[in-house]
Order: sequence, then C-alpha cells, then structure tokens
Amino acid sequence: MKVLVSAASRHGCTAEIAQTIGEQLRSDGHDVVVAAPEEVVTLAGTEAMVLGSAVYVGHWEPAAVRLAERAGAELDGRPVWLFSSGPVGRPEGKFTRQMAVDPAELPKVLAQTKALGHRIFPGKLDRYQLHGLQRAALGVFRGMEGDFRDWTAVRSWADGISAQLGSRASH
Ligand SMILES: Cc1cc2nc3c(=O)[nH]c(=O)nc-3n(C[C@H](O)[C@H](O)[C@H](O)COP(=O)(O)O)c2cc1C
Repeated sequence: MKVLVSAASRHGCTAEIAQTIGEQLRSDGHDVVVAAPEEVVTLAGTEAMVLGSAVYVGHWEPAAVRLAERAGAELDGRPVWLFSSGPVGRPEGKFTRQMAVDPAELPKVLAQTKALGHRIFPGKLDRYQLHGLQRAALGVFRGMEGDFRDWTAVRSWADGISAQLGSRASH
C-alpha cells in the first residue's frame, strides 16, 4: 500500500522517528513516502497515513495540525495513525509524567482524521538546541536532557500498523 509518513519536528528528533517508522513499513513491503508536513503537496494516491508531531508546551506543531485538517478533507476515510514525540527524562519523574499526556489538539485531530490510534513516544532534548531561557530552565528540570527514544517501541508500533493494513487489504 502507498503509505505517507509525515511528522512535524523542530529539532529533528520526531523527524527521525518518522524515518524509522517509514523504514519499518517499507521492510514490511509497503510503498512509503516520508515527508515533513510542509512538503506534502498532495494526498492523492495516499492509501494510509501516519501523522506525528513533536509536542511543545502541551501542543502539536501547527504544520501537523494543518495536515490533519487536510487529511480529514482529502483522505476520504483512508486509515490514519497518529503519534506524538515528547516526554523526556526518567519515565517515573514528576515532570516527565506531566509531559506524557495527550496534546491539546488530539481530540480535534482524532475527530478530523478518524485515526485508528495515537501513540506517545519518548523524545530527545539537547541543550545546544535550546535558546537562553529554555537552557536556563534545564537547570531546574534536571535529568531531562538526553535521547530517550525507544526504537524497539517505534518499530513494533510500525509493525502493528503493517499488520492492520495487511488485514484491511485482505478484506
Ligand atoms: C520548551 C520545551 C517545551 C516542551 N514541552 C513539552 C511538552 O509539553 N510535552 C512533551 O511531551 N514534551 C515537551 N518537550 C520535549 C520535546 O517535545 C522533545 O524534546 C521532542 O522530542 C522534540 O522533538 P523535535 O526535535 O522533533 O522538535 C518540550 C521541549 C522544550 C524544549
């Protein structure tokens, strides 16, 4: 199936998750395009979509929200899966748990795309990518810097999507 994987990313962490999902779907036999939301010219020919976004201060990036709107209008009920990348730090940490909540836009995006699922993946925080005030805040939020991405979880989520696509195709 022709699958579009698109994710909004400020610093590349979420884009790399999208690439990995794309690679996994490809290795499962799908015809995959991975593109940033701004690069998606048309959804014509797209038979399934995986749409993701980095989460900043509880929100999806606007470019991902806009692509969800387009998907609702143009995908004509074809299957969509959503993911967010965000929580950083030890999973049991107080701030990390507070981060690991659904982004504010999720109810709207779910309604628009009729997505079959939404998954939150841990993200990555690199102090050199932050501006002054954010870098200062890192001093407060100790232990949040680093790469917390779980590639096994990302690949197995993508395999689950392949399995669902396979069973839809055979019906
Ligand atoms: C200022 C700031 C605010 C953030 N707010 C959240 C948040 O509310 N929830 C969350 O899960 N992650 C939050 N994060 C973590 C980022 O989402 C995480 O680092 C993500 O992996 C970055 O992805 P990107 O490199 O694709 O932009 C925040 C990071 C920064 C620097």
